[in-house]
Amino acid sequence: MKLSKRLNAINSLITQSYDIVWDCCCDHGFLGMALLERGIAKQINFVDIIPELMEALEQSLQQFEQGKSLPSWQVRCEDVAQIKLPTAAKQVVVIAGVGGDLCLKLIEQIIANNPQSLHQLSFIICPIQHLYKVREGLKACNLKLENEQIIVENKRFYEVLHVSVNASQTLTQTGGQMWDKHNPQHHLYQQQLLDHYTRMLNKDRLYYQKVITEYQRVFEC
Ligand SMILES: C[S@@+](CC[C@H](N)C(=O)[O-])C[C@H]1O[C@@H](n2cnc3c(N)ncnc32)[C@H](O)[C@@H]1O
Repeated sequence: MKLSKRLNAINSLITQSYDIVWDCCCDHGFLGMALLERGIAKQINFVDIIPELMEALEQSLQQFEQGKSLPSWQVRCEDVAQIKLPTAAKQVVVIAGVGGDLCLKLIEQIIANNPQSLHQLSFIICPIQHLYKVREGLKACNLKLENEQIIVENKRFYEVLHVSVNASQTLTQTGGQMWDKHNPQHHLYQQQLLDHYTRMLNKDRLYYQKVITEYQRVFEC
């Protein structure tokens, strides 16, 4: 299974064996299929809200599994905000390829609906844009940092974050670990963020000036 750079980064982060991996907002299901092939979890749950996509995925998975001995899998056509997590299972919820606002909303609802599963749960996310706000929201949910990285794909920048309530590292809004001052791409990403938030200054000068100042300092630590 050939994955995009972004999905491959997520795939590489899943190194522990889990009871369940949730490939949420899965669309084509490529990530979950790669995980099935690796046999890294006892079960892979594919979740998306579009029925036609999920019917096509169900068929692809039935063909994909022919002649192979794969872990179990489920295709679930539902709103990710409503998923019910088992309480006694080590699981990771992956949400990639959706906007930052939606990604955060889904995480907040999953947490609110599944308080008893939190101790064995982590999230791996790769939202599209608005990472500063997403990170603010994750902090408000008491999530801490396992791992974070910047991924460049087709000249677009993404942040991949692995977070959980049990992690020990503090999550920062601008990313404390992911910046490499020797990497020119990271300087380009910083400049894009600074340009974006400079354009936002007229919306709320005080707030966005603080954001800009924080992004100006990312290479200092
Ligand atoms: C661009 S695809 C992302 C595919 C894949 N995760 C990736 O990163 O390449 C976004 C998917 O999110 C799904 N989606 C959006 N909101 C959702 C929700 N509330 N519950 C389930 N799926 C949702 C859409 O149907 C769409 O298939």
